Amino acid sequence: MGKVKEQGLAVGLLGCGTVGRGLVKLLSQNRQLVQARVGAPLFLAKVADTNPAAFEGLELDSSQKTGDALSIVDDPRIPVIVELIGGQGVAKDLMLRALGNGKTVVTANKALLATWGRDILEAARKGGGELFFEAAVGGCMPVIKTLRETLAGNRILALYGILNGTCNYILSRITFENLSFEDALQKAQEAGFAEADPFLDISGGDTRHKLALCVSLAFGTPVGLEDIFVEGISHLTPDDIAFAQEFGYRVKLLAIAKRTGNAVQARVHPTMIPMYNMLSNVSGPMNALTLVGDACGEVVLYGQGAGMMPTASAVVSDLADAARNLLCGAHNRIPIMGWQERDISPLPILPMDEVVTRYYIRLAALDRPGVLSKVAGVLGDNGISISSVHQKGRHIEGPVPIVLLTHDAKESNIQKALKEIAALAVIAADPVLIRIEEEDETA
Ligand code: HSE
Repeated sequence: MGKVKEQGLAVGLLGCGTVGRGLVKLLSQNRQLVQARVGAPLFLAKVADTNPAAFEGLELDSSQKTGDALSIVDDPRIPVIVELIGGQGVAKDLMLRALGNGKTVVTANKALLATWGRDILEAARKGGGELFFEAAVGGCMPVIKTLRETLAGNRILALYGILNGTCNYILSRITFENLSFEDALQKAQEAGFAEADPFLDISGGDTRHKLALCVSLAFGTPVGLEDIFVEGISHLTPDDIAFAQEFGYRVKLLAIAKRTGNAVQARVHPTMIPMYNMLSNVSGPMNALTLVGDACGEVVLYGQGAGMMPTASAVVSDLADAARNLLCGAHNRIPIMGWQERDISPLPILPMDEVVTRYYIRLAALDRPGVLSKVAGVLGDNGISISSVHQKGRHIEGPVPIVLLTHDAKESNIQKALKEIAALAVIAADPVLIRIEEEDETA
């Protein structure tokens, strides 16, 4: 304790990529300011990266740089490790080893936490160190702190998040410039938002990792990735997004979690949300999260969900917490997942088939008498009530788009109805479905 106050907090950084470099810069740029807030200096004792070029241009002397991450993790003079390697290979081994060595770990690695959370928590419990991961969800937005601390007095009822900047950037370009998905993805790559392999982003996988962490923190339940329904954005067309706008909606890749009776529902998919909803105005690579608590009502966080300095900002926030705890001897004052271990119990996760919401359905139908009655018949037979129908234009030959909005309906009924509709001779292509998130006041 006294040692930290006098000598400062020795931090070991594993991985000097974009965020790692941001951390080196931020700790140098705001050194005094952070010290004034924390009560002791934070200093990078060692920085590891296997690529020596990673250190270029950084204010690091040769004693700080190494290619050997393990030597940092095993160094008894370094109590806090920042893991910014990413992925689930070496990062996992090093994190488990650091925790096993009793160190406090700060990480931005949502994939690792969402996939191996149980093992990681167990290693932290056994080792006695702490685990911080503010940078894992929503970049600089204080999502973890808000759920873990600020809203501790609330029963969380729901959360709705735009948690992937790449997808939000792509959807914004389709919305405002009528680009195809492929062109918008290329623009995202050119702008440096999307990775060379953007699969994890556009498939919704990255958002699912982040939602898994939010669900555990919000509801005090462990959740497996397999419990979270996920659908990506690559099938969305400019037409669907334009039709959505005509009905007063924007399309966002939303992470949704809600209490439903005794269960929790958790899902990630493209979602139509009303224009008046604040989230519909979150454009470009920005992230946002609406949290709904029984006492606070709605709280909306908005900010940069990725990038060098915003993510480094979240890492420094965790380092400040780690240092303050060490200075006060207030070790594990806040449980890692925000709940006392004995009070974390698995809640039932609502199967996707049981989810009830409203739907947008687009059909490619032949423009003939009786088509609508056939479609409406199938929907009616499956207990689905239509709230509006629009035929978009008239073609002499070939199919026309028919767009339907439904009242609240059950997912399993919708899926069954869509299969039956797709099999009708008058339907020319697979129906397109987008879920709507809005109170159904007209049901
Ligand atoms: N690739 C993510 C995004 C950032 O586009 O938001 C890291 O999770």
